[in-house]
Parts: sequence; structure tokens; C-alpha cells
Amino acid sequence: MNLIELIKENARKNRQRIVLPESHEERTLKAADIAVKEDLADIILLGDPSEILAHAKSLGLKHIGRARLINPATDEKREPYSRLMAEIRKSKGLTLEDAMNLLNNPLYFSTVMIKSGDADGEVAGADNATGDVLRPAFQFVKTLPGISVVSGAFLMFLKDREFGENGLMVFADCAVHPDPSAPELAEIAISTAKTTRSIARIEPRIAMLSFSTKGSASHEMVDKVVTATRLAREADSSLKIDGELQADAAIVESVAKKKAPGSSIAGKANVLIFPSLESGNIAYKLVQRLAHAEAIGPVLQGMAAPINDLSRGCSVTDIVDLIAITANQAIGIKE
Ligand code: ACO
Repeated sequence: MNLIELIKENARKNRQRIVLPESHEERTLKAADIAVKEDLADIILLGDPSEILAHAKSLGLKHIGRARLINPATDEKREPYSRLMAEIRKSKGLTLEDAMNLLNNPLYFSTVMIKSGDADGEVAGADNATGDVLRPAFQFVKTLPGISVVSGAFLMFLKDREFGENGLMVFADCAVHPDPSAPELAEIAISTAKTTRSIARIEPRIAMLSFSTKGSASHEMVDKVVTATRLAREADSSLKIDGELQADAAIVESVAKKKAPGSSIAGKANVLIFPSLESGNIAYKLVQRLAHAEAIGPVLQGMAAPINDLSRGCSVTDIVDLIAITANQAIGIKE
């Protein structure tokens, strides 16, 4: 069974409630139909039920009737949800009236459902920019205990099986936090190790990337990566991690022998942690396009409940896969 099939199988066995706020969006509706048909999760669609059903009918979808349809504009939980929101954002001056207005936006409604325990995870972003999906999540769902920064990992399936774990590598942060400090970079490495174990299902060997290998260059940007590596090791001594490493030293054995002899990670890394969002986002897109790798994600990590943001260029299959991944993350968080 391939990795996505294993992830889907686990989702089926431990059904989670996954909310899709963008029910007006065609690919999302098609993905919801498949997810219901394949029993991947209890799907919740936000929007006017009669409009959702009419849209589904016009697309020839047969299974949407088995999803739960909730209208954020009229739902009976608006009252308790707005009270919860005002309580959480009291220090930011959020009034009950403001909260009621925010609930008209399905991207807010969905995160408050999750915070209230009425859903286990969310997939959105086929029709909204990353910031619009993430802001409500940051404000109301917040991060896991001990984590201050949310980041995004990609599972990269390379055609060349010689790299990573039989061609599978995990890259982070490629999606969220533009300029992490050293402690934040250490957190990103630790969160990515967890994602690598729970979603990629491999044991992480983490390379902390830089333009320098083991002191070959000196610059404050290099110092940041060295410090982050030390902090990650201090936080979790079992972590297999090394840095700072250049990308070639991280993934090519012959280069590793020259540039980082004695490193147990260099030349064998299956997880690459980039020093900034700029480098991570550019790298994953280049590998995806130039090496024809399949990129699954971003899998957002560090949030108290899984909320995943699609690329607006996503396919129906991408959404279905991310629903299954989100369900797996929800299962992992509860374990
Ligand atoms: N982790 C946890 N919390 C965060 C994070 C984070 N990474 N970033 C911001 N927050 C919190 C803040 O602490 C703040 O909380 P508060 O309101 O309780 O004080 C709240 O979120 C809003 O913070 P802002 O700094 O105002 O956040 P803003 O909305 O401006 O930016 C955002 C957050 C949208 C994620 C921004 O960092 C961003 O645009 N990142 C890049 C996203 C992107 O475009 N990625 C590339 C495309 S994705 C792709 O290609 C796959």
C-alpha cells in the first residue's frame, strides 16, 4: 500500500469530523463528495444547505447528502460561539457584536467550531489566500502547548529514489513563518520531526540548512542555524539532527564525506529545515517543477488542532489527500 493509501486507511478506521468552509468552491465540493464516498471522514460543509445541494446536483455529485451541512448565518450555535470568541479575544477588544459579524465568515466559523469541540480539523484555501485561512486559526485555535510558531511541511516524493528515504523527503518551513528566529527554527525542526514520524511514517534524519557547512562561512545567518541546531538538540536529545549544512552536504554522501566527515546526518538527510520561508518556499517549488517531484502539503504543524491550507492551484485529488492527512493529524494530536 502506498503512503497516501495508508493515511486514508487510518482516517477510515478513526473517523474524524473535518470541516470544509469553502463549500461554494467546485473542487472542494467534488473532493467532499469523494471523501464521503470513500468514508475518509465525517465531512462538514459550511454554507446555505439548499445552495450546496443544488450546486452538488448540477455537478452530478451523489454523496453530498451524507455530509453535514451547516449554515453559519443561521446556526443555533452562533450565540455560544460568539461568547467564546469574545472571551478568547477579550484582551484584543473583541466585542460580542464583532464576534457575531466574524461568524458570518465561514473561515472564522470553522475555527470556532474546532475550538468548541464540534469539529476535529479543517481544510481550506482552494479559494482563499494563506493569510485569510491562517489568521482565524492563529487567533482562536492557537498553538499546541510548548509551541509558539506554526509552520508548513511538504512531503516531497522524488523520482530519484537514491535521496531521502527511498525518494521521500520532508521540507519545512515552506509555507508560513517568513523569518524565524533561532529558537523558532529549533521549534520548526522539532515539529517537522513529529510530522515526519506521524504522516510520512519514517524516522527523521534532519539537516539544518545554510549556505555554510560546519563553519565554512561566517555570518549571522549561519550563527542562527548553528544556534537553532543546538537548541533543538537540547530540547530533544533523541533527535537525529545536524547543522549547519549546505544542501549538497545534506543529501549527497560523497560531498558529505568531504565537507562534514563524521556527521551521521550529512549525506543521508531525509528532512530539510530551511533557514527562512523564502528559501523553503523557493526550494520546494523548484524541486517540484525541475525534478518533477510530487509535493504533498503544506501540512501545517504546531497548531492545537489541524487546520490545513490548500494552494489555490490545487486539484480535487490534492484536497481529498489533505482531508485524509488532516484526519491523521487530528488522530495523532488526540493520542
Ligand atoms: N505561528 C503562530 N502564530 C502566529 C504565526 C505563526 N507562524 N504568525 C502569526 N501568528 C499569530 C500572531 O501571534 C498574532 O496573534 P494575536 O493576534 O493573538 O496577537 C496573529 O497570528 C496575527 O499575527 P500577525 O503578525 O498580525 O499575522 P499576519 O496576519 O500579518 O501574518 C501570516 C500571519 C498571514 C501567516 C503571515 O506570516 C504570512 O503571510 N506568511 C506567509 C504566508 C504565505 O504567503 N506563504 C506562501 C504561500 S503558501 C505556499 O506556497 C504553499
